[in-house]
Amino acid sequence: MGLAPATPTHPLSMLTADEVTRAVDIVRSTGRLPDGALFAHIVLVEPDKAELAAWSAASRIERFVRLQIVPGPGLELWEVTVALGSGSITEWRVVEGERPTLLFHEAATAIFTTREHPEYRAALARRGITDVDNVQIDPWPAGTFGYAAEEGRRIARCISFVRAYPEDNGYARPVEGLIVHFDLGRNEVIEVIDHGVVSLPHEHARYFAADHEPLRADIKPLHIVQSDGPSFVVDGNRIDWQKWSVRITFDPYEGLVLHGVSYSGRSIAHRLSISEMVVPYGDPSEMHGFKNAFDAGEWGLGRMTQSLALGCDCLGEIFYFDAVLATEHGSPWPIANAICMHEEDYGIAWKHVDLFGGTSEVRRSRRLVISHIATVGNYEYGFYWYFYLDGNIQLEVKLTGILSVGAMEPGESRSFGNEVAPGIYAPFHQHMFCARLDLDVDGVDNRVVEVEAEVVPPGDGNPWSNAFRARKTLLERESNARRMVNTATSRSWRVVNDAARNGLGQPTAYKLIPTMSTPALLADASSSVGQRAGFARHNLWVTPYAPSEMRAAGDYPNQSRGGAGLPEWTQADRDLVDTDVVLWYSFGITHFPRPEDWPVMPVEYTGFLLSPVGFFDRNPALDVPPSAAINDEACH
Ligand code: NI
Repeated sequence: MGLAPATPTHPLSMLTADEVTRAVDIVRSTGRLPDGALFAHIVLVEPDKAELAAWSAASRIERFVRLQIVPGPGLELWEVTVALGSGSITEWRVVEGERPTLLFHEAATAIFTTREHPEYRAALARRGITDVDNVQIDPWPAGTFGYAAEEGRRIARCISFVRAYPEDNGYARPVEGLIVHFDLGRNEVIEVIDHGVVSLPHEHARYFAADHEPLRADIKPLHIVQSDGPSFVVDGNRIDWQKWSVRITFDPYEGLVLHGVSYSGRSIAHRLSISEMVVPYGDPSEMHGFKNAFDAGEWGLGRMTQSLALGCDCLGEIFYFDAVLATEHGSPWPIANAICMHEEDYGIAWKHVDLFGGTSEVRRSRRLVISHIATVGNYEYGFYWYFYLDGNIQLEVKLTGILSVGAMEPGESRSFGNEVAPGIYAPFHQHMFCARLDLDVDGVDNRVVEVEAEVVPPGDGNPWSNAFRARKTLLERESNARRMVNTATSRSWRVVNDAARNGLGQPTAYKLIPTMSTPALLADASSSVGQRAGFARHNLWVTPYAPSEMRAAGDYPNQSRGGAGLPEWTQADRDLVDTDVVLWYSFGITHFPRPEDWPVMPVEYTGFLLSPVGFFDRNPALDVPPSAAINDEACH
């Protein structure tokens, strides 16, 4: 099943191919676009929250599209908004001094131009590499390090790998020491830098089935059958499943976006997404010290999404959503099967055996999975949103793909990386994601309370010396709402609606729980990445809703100077009590690579959980029916 582009029936219907074409026609008809202008993105303008709340099925749908246009090789961007209905241009803003995301067109040109460059070829020749066609060139986001030659330019840093044949895994043989600074806008090599020759590792790093014969012969088929079909109902981009309702869209940077999340018609979240992510490397060497890839803001988790295959990426009774992005030349770019949705059995939801009464009750847990997978160069990131029968919402990020590695001479070791194969080392690095969680628990106005265990000192009032209680701290302003995870005190954050009460008279709430140990950014606050990825220096930030505050590192993270986004907005120290709060949760992993991560990483997991706290009066999954008995035996 797939979703064909259709006429929008809701203000948040996904962007259609016709809308991309129309938006570009409107802009082209002005005659202002120079030859060679590129479109960094073409996206639906999401209606403001109040506007969306006021919309009803009887209302007209006004659709606006925002285009980011790169008119030339320098640092000028045009931010253009068009009204599709009237064909008018509602904004044409020139932004000076900022860069778009890295553009695919320019990255492809950089690879070609670098490959032809005589100094680059000479550096390859010094390493005995003459088969230039099988050299793989990876343009990397440049970061910002104050090089004078890079002022006013859009830069990539190209690093190289050698393949034995076109389908080979090039990461087996990094061309250590060779790096090319490249001007993407002007398509020119700025500098070929050779830090010295290191031998190419000899071993291949192939992960194809043919390279691992004999394959296991004792793995039996595992079929997931739903002969009556799945339990969800899809209407356009709206999904209803087991009291849940959610609408999905797809953004070039954030990837999958969830809107209007509700349970039994009660609001839980207005909008949930991954706002930004960064992969800072902890190796100060010449080849790796510059690596701080903002995989959302500098490449795009949506733009890097690949089509999924039935039985391979997703197993069972699958519903696929297609997504429509736009090419840099302004054509619709449909990604078939971009988003996968299905139900999964997830063990037990609850169980009790009454040893006295002789009864046994157990219910199966089931979750709705909505996912997509982005391939950002060497790495893959799978984003899996789970909805459960008991009111839980979870995001699990699955990290896989291939490590970014360097070569070293046999017998050498590295202080800031681990050897993962002979002559191959993988630098230490982090993957820091920032989820933007616009929760609206039973309505728009909420407050955030930090809850953690507090041990009571022995003595009066604690005669058993065992006492601990829940300490609750209201996060009143932005300045006291920059928080760190503390697993020792089971710290979590409740989003509370103080005006809504459950049957016990308690305010209704959802809590954000770090489900796995998560770091914050390890690079020093004074470092380039410490400035540019300020969002990752704290695990939690809370802000009042502002429609312009969407991207945790600001709207222009590529080669940014730093400070933009959360660090800048929260300087205002706005009030957070009983207002429309937005949580920003920075989470991830610190990766000390293992031999087992080579040549392709087994999935590593990170994420978080949103769980009801007094949102319901009791276990909301009591009405889940007992499972059908199998083999004529009752389920006990
Ligand atoms: Ni990693």
